[in-house]
Amino acid sequence: MCGIVGYTGGSQAAPILLEGLEKLEYRGYDSAGIAVFGGKEKKKEPSIEVIKAKGRLKVLFEMTDSGKAVHGTCGIGHTRWATHGEPSVVNSHPQYAKDKRVVVVHNGIIENYQELKERLVRDGCEFVSDTDTEVVAHLLDRYYEKDPVDAISKLMYHVRGSYALGILFGDRPGEIYAVRKDSPLIVGRSAGGNFIASDVPAILRYTRDVCFIENQVIVRLTGKDIQFFDVDKAELKKEFTQIQWDTEAAEKGGFKHFMLKEIYEQPKAIRDTVSPRVKDGKVNLEELHLTQEDLASVRRIQMVACGSAYHVCMTARYMVEGLVRIPVDVDLASEFRYRRPILEENTLVIVISQSGETADSLAALREAKSLGHKVMAIVNVVGSSIAREADSVFYTWAGPEISVATTKAYSTQLAAVYLLAIAMGRARGLVDEQTEADMVAELLRLPEKIERILEEKERIQWFANKFSHSRDIFFIGRGLDYASSLEGSLKLKEISYIHSEAYAAGELKHGTISLIEDGILVIGVATQSSLFEKLISNMVEVKSRGAYVLGVTSYGNYSMEDVANYTIYVPKTMECFAASLVVVPLQLLAYYVALGKGLDVDKPRNLAKSVTVE
Ligand code: AGP
Repeated sequence: MCGIVGYTGGSQAAPILLEGLEKLEYRGYDSAGIAVFGGKEKKKEPSIEVIKAKGRLKVLFEMTDSGKAVHGTCGIGHTRWATHGEPSVVNSHPQYAKDKRVVVVHNGIIENYQELKERLVRDGCEFVSDTDTEVVAHLLDRYYEKDPVDAISKLMYHVRGSYALGILFGDRPGEIYAVRKDSPLIVGRSAGGNFIASDVPAILRYTRDVCFIENQVIVRLTGKDIQFFDVDKAELKKEFTQIQWDTEAAEKGGFKHFMLKEIYEQPKAIRDTVSPRVKDGKVNLEELHLTQEDLASVRRIQMVACGSAYHVCMTARYMVEGLVRIPVDVDLASEFRYRRPILEENTLVIVISQSGETADSLAALREAKSLGHKVMAIVNVVGSSIAREADSVFYTWAGPEISVATTKAYSTQLAAVYLLAIAMGRARGLVDEQTEADMVAELLRLPEKIERILEEKERIQWFANKFSHSRDIFFIGRGLDYASSLEGSLKLKEISYIHSEAYAAGELKHGTISLIEDGILVIGVATQSSLFEKLISNMVEVKSRGAYVLGVTSYGNYSMEDVANYTIYVPKTMECFAASLVVVPLQLLAYYVALGKGLDVDKPRNLAKSVTVE
């Protein structure tokens, strides 16, 4: 996510802004900037000076002598995690319309920015960046006459999507305006001045007296006063609270670890990834520049990835072959790149990578291109190597993922696969209008279903504590559930260091069942009705050999309790989407087992967030 800081008061603003942005670095970014009323020279007429730089914050520090060279006591700052537009100075924030009459920093995604931009260009607006945020600046410039609150109110009626905005109006020195919808923003107050920020760490040094702004509340700050307004410009009274967190806890939003924070961010991450690709109830993948003919002409799909991304490919194979009826091959990137693959004509190669920097996956992409095939990448980091070298990129908008164990990026990769499968099924005449509408509607319900699972985390935590000192833990599943078992097993072993394997349940009798001993935990994943009874039989097999059996299934499959020693339920969904729900208890199980062992959940031994070497 991007980071926003704003300050107005009696002190020099730039040093406060830079230091606040520094406290938000953990959120991940690729460029940064500040805008201050004043600037490097003291001027009669205060104007807004904007200073921006690509790369690390230290560039800004060097450009401004740590802010000391920038005069002025009111300004806003931003660290950018790119979603629309490559990382660059021109795409970094603050963004502004001509002559800096309005200057804006933004965290979020404006879903309808393209149509708004087309209209503004037709009206003669000149754009310099590829960002959705510049559209906001031009709109505010257009709506603003005398009352900033009125201009912001008008903006809110026209933009769709998620936003946290910090805004300066050129003829209102000393004033900062802010508004948010679905992206976090807080207000802080102190005797020395008032603040806005994306997150508490940015201002904790100056104040613990904060107000978490609610959706669609407009804020006006001066050095002495803070006012709140609703979208109809009626003034509101708002409560402030005292932050009790220390800085480290604040960076994790009050969660103990980034992994848990990111597990809880999954509903928003899926919403942010899916909603902008749904228009009038249909999947809209214009950004991929693939026509219906392109999609319909695909005869085979070759998917390549590593680790959890590979498990998304495994899930995709079951889901895409079931819906689109074309063969899907799946390879580990480290194997694909060396096996001299033979790819048929009209094979679409899809590389999935959260970081976009995984060496094996990048090498596999290059191998596929060397064979003359188009490569689509599903990537979370804008401008990453894999994103740059792919022929088309389907960005997941999970935001920066800090914990080495992937959770929200994994979930958004699944969502991207679902959207692609629906679009391909439609192009091949296998998904009619009603089916598409039903599937899209269910996709949009997944976030709330994940929220329901998260509400029951205590049951999973209790169970995890019973098994946190296991030596071996096995996962079994069939079909899509086998792919989910692979992911659950990887999550568990990479952060708890407990040996774990996932088996296609039908394989048990071919050797692996010899591993089952008294008390060994076997986790059976069962969301696919056509395979449910077979999975239950496999659970009976291992239980009769002494295993302790945990069942993970959908509500309604209560016969699971006839076999399992303990059962965890997830809400019902279309079975092709079940992986998105069943992975959540498996993530929580891994988290609480590792927590119970007192391990460093976010930074497991021997692992890196991005494996950029072979
Ligand atoms: C997943 O929790 C692991 N951190 C790891 O398997 C990861 O999925 C793998 O290294 C691939 O990373 P990528 O998605 O950035 O390419």
